[in-house]
Amino acid sequence: MSSSTAPIITSEVPAPFDPWSIRSRFPVLTREVRPGVPLVYLDNAATSLKPWSVIRAVQSYDTEFTANVHRGLHTLSEEATAAYEEARTSVARYIHARDESEIIFTRGTTESINLVALSFGRTRLQPGDEIVLTALEHHANLVPWLMLARERGVVLRYAELHPDGTLDLDSLDRQIGSRTRLVAFSGMSNVLGTLLPIAEIVARAQAVGAATLLDAAQLVAHGPLDVAALGVDFAAFSGHKMFGPTGIGILYGRRERLEAMPPVLGGGDMVLEVHRDRAEWNELPYKFEAGTPPIAQAIGLGAAVQFLAELDWDAITAHQQQLVASAQARLASISGVRLFSAPAYQNGGVVSFTVDGVHPHDLAQILDRRGVAIRAGQHCAMPLHETLGIPASARASFCLYNCQSEVESLAQAVEYACSVFHRSDSRSPNAARKSPADG
Ligand SMILES: Cc1ncc(COP(=O)(O)O)c(C=O)c1O
Repeated sequence: MSSSTAPIITSEVPAPFDPWSIRSRFPVLTREVRPGVPLVYLDNAATSLKPWSVIRAVQSYDTEFTANVHRGLHTLSEEATAAYEEARTSVARYIHARDESEIIFTRGTTESINLVALSFGRTRLQPGDEIVLTALEHHANLVPWLMLARERGVVLRYAELHPDGTLDLDSLDRQIGSRTRLVAFSGMSNVLGTLLPIAEIVARAQAVGAATLLDAAQLVAHGPLDVAALGVDFAAFSGHKMFGPTGIGILYGRRERLEAMPPVLGGGDMVLEVHRDRAEWNELPYKFEAGTPPIAQAIGLGAAVQFLAELDWDAITAHQQQLVASAQARLASISGVRLFSAPAYQNGGVVSFTVDGVHPHDLAQILDRRGVAIRAGQHCAMPLHETLGIPASARASFCLYNCQSEVESLAQAVEYACSVFHRSDSRSPNAARKSPADG
């Protein structure tokens, strides 16, 4: 190849991401849990922390232009409406929706999925129709379908996992068939961290004409989401897991799908005309937003999306994988620890584990003494825990602001917990309290 046609060789290894470059933007990270005990926040899969930009966006609504949206003709209401709709535009751009009409504000992932079940599910699915899920779903993407199955006689089928926690695509192929009407799946497991092969799943669903719903609750905090490229019909996610406020979430839906769906809640704002005997629904997205929406929270979510859009995701992905790999290696080196976590290169940032003879609740409480915040229980994924054959697990979940020293704090705290329990074990064989599994 001549030098004039030689490609410019660039390194594929992204410049390392330094979490300390952004930690100061998150005020909670500076606090101590108790005097002298700094916080090590490893519960990001439950709720992530907020940067100042999100806090200030919510604060400015509360202190400068508190008003209802879409209804007033005064300055404050116009400003509130503009900020609320700007947030919708930011979300639409960030996830590559065609336009704002495809973005519905809800209270969170759970409400978004329920909306699809109650509207699309109730009107489009017949008894005997099938919905395909995976073995790793959160209850939010499971219970609405169980309710629909009970109500309408639809059948739920489950694609299984490989032993390493990744999705078994052959099993998925066996579940998808001519009766499949919907494939609803999580993009990232909140227990195993598994990143699912979204494009492959969507292609299989589309091959039989089934709709797709992506539960992106965990995914959105770990990289950009492109609903157009992925070709999903619906996507659901929550503000509080992507550095935004609680009480706000998104249902993305392809316009053709949403237009064909009836509203679920009736009330103000979702109607164009109301008479004693009839009403005409408003256009998208308002048809699905009855009543006063969570305005401050939507504005905060808009700020969170702007924060996410500015980040270098190649570098952050490498950083998060490094955290997962070192947490897995470090925890695996501790006697009695069993890991339940997908391989680091297919893991969005979650490391679940058990410690022989120690209930995860006890473990979490002892870790808290060291300032290490983790989750313990079944993480709203009981069927997955049944599949794994464990009553509960402890879960450390990482995100972009976590650093290597926090992995070490986690490991040392687990070692400390083991020493506490082994000491009490040696005093009395029953001294280690075993609490019941949570429901
Ligand atoms: C994968 C997944 N889906 C759905 C949800 C439900 O989210 P929310 O409680 O914000 O509605 C969660 C929450 O942990 C989750 O991890």
